[in-house]
Amino acid sequence: MRHFLDINKTDPSELRSIIDRAAAMKTARNGRPKGTPDDDQPLAGRMVALIFEKPSTRTRVSFDVGVRQMGGQTMVLSGSEMQLGHGETIADTARVLSRYVDLIMIRTFEEQTLLEMAEYATVPVINGLTNRSHPCQIMADVMTFEEHRGPIRGRKVVWSGDGNNVCGSFIHAAGQFGFDLTFTGPETLDPEAGFVDEARAKGSNIVIERDPARAVQGADLVVTDTWVSMHDPQSARERRHNQLRGYQVNSALMEQAKDDALFMHCLPAHRDDEATSEVMDGPHSVIFDEAENRLHAQKAIMRWCLGV
Ligand code: CP
Ligand code: NVA
Repeated sequence: MRHFLDINKTDPSELRSIIDRAAAMKTARNGRPKGTPDDDQPLAGRMVALIFEKPSTRTRVSFDVGVRQMGGQTMVLSGSEMQLGHGETIADTARVLSRYVDLIMIRTFEEQTLLEMAEYATVPVINGLTNRSHPCQIMADVMTFEEHRGPIRGRKVVWSGDGNNVCGSFIHAAGQFGFDLTFTGPETLDPEAGFVDEARAKGSNIVIERDPARAVQGADLVVTDTWVSMHDPQSARERRHNQLRGYQVNSALMEQAKDDALFMHCLPAHRDDEATSEVMDGPHSVIFDEAENRLHAQKAIMRWCLGV
């Protein structure tokens, strides 16, 4: 059984096959209406549970639409309305859900919840974001980069801002897909050292550079994310804004990157905080392609998990 828990836990050749299939499935739909089924119906007769312990727009809708396009059915569950949110163990929840559904996607807080779900479920489990990582997002981002610019191997990606969960999965991807990544942000918000060490051990050049203008020199891709994540206490908001203001992605910063550099943001964004609207809506930006590619990448991830 194949769980999709993290990019660094999935073999590079499997990751590549998922991206290739996502691209092929996207092409096969060839702009047909969103509500129409795919020609292939690999999820026919299958039921997928989508569990959310945090808010979501993209993950929720893209998984739901993706399952339906492939002929399956979904149930969207909010953690607080399940017994899970009222003291039932994750292990028991996993064992029960496995009797009803064929696949579980969960967005949660602690990574331990995801890992326990995967340990006790007898069906595949997909990570739809934890406090530590967001692998589905970065699969879509790699797909998006390659769609616009060709192979990501050997390219320079710059992450500006908070070394958060999305940044963590980008660092995992650097190791697995063989690109280089420069992190620029304040020391207190550095990405996890273990993630950095692991990507370096796989041959990726991971650089920490405090000066954002220097960091983005020669960048093929500049990425940022919200300064305050869903798991961060709101009380940290003002301090983080003060710490991160200098790492805003604006036109002046993008000018330091390569002329054809792309700009990405997983969304939702706080416009004119972490990135200006000028950049988000400007010529480098591929933010809505990223959002669309969540759909295609996750369809390929679900097929991989189910072996269909
Ligand atoms: N990027 C992303 O995961 O968005 P949602 O929080 O809307 O799902
Ligand atoms: N870092 C953000 C990503 C949202 C998709 C968060 O965890 O809130």
